[in-house]
Amino acid sequence: MKDLTIAVLPGDGIGPEVTAEAVRVLVAVADLYGFRLRLPEYPIGAAAVHESGEALPTLTRNGVREADAILLGAVGSPALAAAKGNRRPEAGLLALRTLLGTYANLRPITVHAALRHVSPLRAERLEGVDLLIVRELTGGLYYGEPRGRDDDAAVNTMRYSISEIERVARVAFRAARARRRCLTSVDKANVLEVSQLWRDTVSRIAAEYPDVAVEHLYVDYAAMRLITDPRSIDVLLTENLFGDILSDEAAVLAGSLGMLPSASLGDGPGLFEPVHGSAPDMAGRGVANPIGAIASAAMLLRYGLDLGEAADHIDQAITTVLLAGARTSDLARPGETFLGTREMGEAISRLVLSGGAAEPHA
Ligand code: IPM
Ligand code: MN
Repeated sequence: MKDLTIAVLPGDGIGPEVTAEAVRVLVAVADLYGFRLRLPEYPIGAAAVHESGEALPTLTRNGVREADAILLGAVGSPALAAAKGNRRPEAGLLALRTLLGTYANLRPITVHAALRHVSPLRAERLEGVDLLIVRELTGGLYYGEPRGRDDDAAVNTMRYSISEIERVARVAFRAARARRRCLTSVDKANVLEVSQLWRDTVSRIAAEYPDVAVEHLYVDYAAMRLITDPRSIDVLLTENLFGDILSDEAAVLAGSLGMLPSASLGDGPGLFEPVHGSAPDMAGRGVANPIGAIASAAMLLRYGLDLGEAADHIDQAITTVLLAGARTSDLARPGETFLGTREMGEAISRLVLSGGAAEPHA
């Protein structure tokens, strides 16, 4: 029997609620496939600041380094919105990404047939949409030096080295190879030197993957294409901030930000987290959608632990539960009944265990 350690970092807001459901599903799947899970919990974000004064305490740094993979909920808190330095909840997440060296962030956008009418976009535009955003995660404006603020100005720096672009580009090309073999690289090369380097580098790496068709789009046009013709995109490769913005936009295709999972990969253990934030307005009410977190647990099994079959099992359970009509508040139409966070987690984990049909929800 395999013994695996997953460091669980619930974080802030709805983080603990959705993470508990992802853990419930992981435990179910571990039972089924006969692996043993250790699930130690560590603080991050505002929760950690309140405990120890730092958003990424030493306890957590040490814990994640010993883990096979990391499952994270969300960070962010209105009470600490004006905090500085390592008391900022978001600084904890950025430091964690640096610590783990997770430079490639995979954000798959799946449009479930059952949810095509949930998106404000026309349902026929969503048919056949299946795309993967590959966002560079440890460079660009989020990390560039110099940075800072004085009395009348503030500065951030966008900087990428060739090797930083090359390594994330290779992840995207390899992903494209396993999919529809199209790669859309997104930049602002008509204005930014960094984007010109990005475009030159991606074009050069493309020669290593002659079977993958490459196009380069400016980010403003890409933002439009993403919602006017989402089917035309297979793998979308971009830098950190553009990827942050475009992935929230792409969530509209999936029907809700609460649906999107992510995997952040580098050379060490991977970090797996839903794309959504801490949603303080929803926190503590048991109404957040746990599907993004549960699908992140599936990505953890697939990319973090090489347990693709167990991951498929979870993804299938999500599809089935949605087809049976189960909805959380964010997916329900006005007047439609919906499940709470825990009820949705239980419905998915029951399906995982039974491997059978869902009970109808209507
Ligand atoms: C995300 C989030 C984070 C980011 C924040 C919380 C720092 O928005 O993972 O998309 O900007 O990367
Ligand atoms: Mn974001």
